[in-house]
Amino acid sequence: MKKFLKIAAITVSVLILAVAGLASYVKLALPNVGPAPDIKIDATAQRIAHGDYLANHVLVCMDCHSTRNWNEFSGPPIEGTRGKGGDVFDKRIGMPGTYYAANITPSGIGHWSDGEIFRAVTTGVRKSGKAIFPIMPYQNYGQLDEEDIKDVIAYVRSLTPIENKVPQSESEFPMSFILNTIPKKANIKPKPSPTDIIAYGKYMVTAASCAECHTPFVKGKFIDSLQFAGGRTFMFPAGMVTSANLTPDDKTGIGKWTKEDFMGRFKAYRDSSHMHIKVDINKEFNTPMPWTMFAGMKDEDLSAIYDYLRTLKPISQEIVKFQPYSK
Ligand code: HEC
Ligand code: HEC
Repeated sequence: MKKFLKIAAITVSVLILAVAGLASYVKLALPNVGPAPDIKIDATAQRIAHGDYLANHVLVCMDCHSTRNWNEFSGPPIEGTRGKGGDVFDKRIGMPGTYYAANITPSGIGHWSDGEIFRAVTTGVRKSGKAIFPIMPYQNYGQLDEEDIKDVIAYVRSLTPIENKVPQSESEFPMSFILNTIPKKANIKPKPSPTDIIAYGKYMVTAASCAECHTPFVKGKFIDSLQFAGGRTFMFPAGMVTSANLTPDDKTGIGKWTKEDFMGRFKAYRDSSHMHIKVDINKEFNTPMPWTMFAGMKDEDLSAIYDYLRTLKPISQEIVKFQPYSK
């Protein structure tokens, strides 16, 4: 009996040590994506202009890092708030903690090196070495072309500095541990040529994170078998908004949409009179889909996105776009 107790005591101690060791490894040694690259970005006018295009119309950094006007359709960023940060993502929208979009104007990250911003955007590790929560789709940004990321950084650095102290994000247990295991080394690769239409369209879809919103997200996990088939839900004050099925299913997806139908949906918001449509968010439908930002996407890019989406496997999944809460 004594011997048994002794063995049990040793086993328990070993287990405790192992768990403590693993916990401190995750807390102290991770995330480990290597040092920030040693780069110096030449902020030419051309880089800044292309970065502006990507940050406002494709990668939509400004969708999350600005103050959005939810009294207008699709919540366009309010002028004068670009990069200011402060938007909150918390339990009300199913997040495992409280996350604040950072101030990415020069007042916020002006003291970071180009390489530190590059590492943050492509791997999810900050200047301080701490992990960023993947609401920011850095796993997608980490698959993009080095030049595109550099252009975005040149643009972000050119933003008007805005003083805005953003609170620190906080993860709840167990995400407070898991978070450190999420950042991975980037898999930077060159952008396909626009003539390689399907590969180029896929690149644009990755850059714009269409799948993040157009795949069901249940209990903190994407249902991969329904990728692009829509069904992710968003709670709005007036009701529940559900993302659309983007697979080429004839009945429930975009199977019957012509390229003109598809592009027309985006282009409709290009016109300045359609950029600021008033919406009473407490009574009416509004949408997280950044239509007004994506409307600025070039025809060539939208067209390639359509062509790529057509190559997906059709998935039948009926979507109800808006369900008002019953009173
Ligand atoms: C879907 C929303 C979203 C998008 C899109 C997005 N971000 Fe973020 N970003 C966040 C949030 C939220 C945080 C803070 C998360 C946290 O604290 O864990 C963040 C953090 C950052 C940080 C870290 C700053 C700091 O002080 O720690 C940088 C830099 C950054 N984002 C730049 C960008 C750039 C550049 C883009 C576009 C390429 C972008 N973000 C796109 C939501 C987003
Ligand atoms: C922030 C989340 C979000 C992102 C990012 C997003 N969408 Fe959406 N999208 C939605 C939601 C929610 C809806 C349904 C509400 C609406 O129609 O606006 C929607 C609707 C649509 C529709 C309308 C379909 C219909 O039947 O009317 C199309 C087309 C579409 N999205 C394409 C895309 C493409 C292409 C991308 C990437 C370039 C994308 N979306 C990125 C959330 C998003």
